[in-house]
Amino acid sequence: RSILLINGPNLNLLGTREPHIYGYATLDDIATAATTQAKSLGATLVAFQSNHEGAIVDRIHEARGNIDAIVINPGAYTHTSVAIRDALLGVDIPFIELHLSNPHTREPFRHVSYLSDKAASVICGMGAHGYTAAVEFAANHLKIKDT
Ligand code: DQA
Repeated sequence: RSILLINGPNLNLLGTREPHIYGYATLDDIATAATTQAKSLGATLVAFQSNHEGAIVDRIHEARGNIDAIVINPGAYTHTSVAIRDALLGVDIPFIELHLSNPHTREPFRHVSYLSDKAASVICGMGAHGYTAAVEFAANHLKIKDT
C-alpha cells in the first residue's frame, strides 16, 4: 500500500507552535516516524507539507493512480476549503482526516469541517499519536478502492 501524508498550513511550525495545544514533536519527527512505521507494516509513505491551498490541491491530483490512501491534517483549511474537499472527492482516494488537537473543544469556527462527512475516519485529540494510529489504520485496515 502507498500512503500519502499531507500536512497543511502552519504545521511546519510544529514543536514551537502553541506547544500547549499541539505538543513538542516537530513535523520532521512526525514524518520520519510515520515513514519508518509504514515501512515496518509493508507500506510506503510519502510526506508532503504546504501552507498553500492550491499546492495541496495539486498534490492530491498527483496522487491519482499511485496512492491508495491519504492521511491529511488540513490545518485551518479544514474549516474553510471547498477546494480541498473537491480535490479529495475528485481523485476518489479514501482519506483519514487527522487533527492533533480536538477541534470540538475549541473555538466554534473549528467545529465545522469541510471534510469529515466524506472521510473514511476522523482522528482528533490524540496529539502526535494520532499519526501513528492513522498510519496503522491506513496500512492495515482501510478499505482500498479498486482501481
Ligand atoms: C489542527 C486544528 C485546526 O483547527 C488548526 O487550524 C490547525 C491544526 C490540529 O491538528 O489540531 O492548524 O488541524
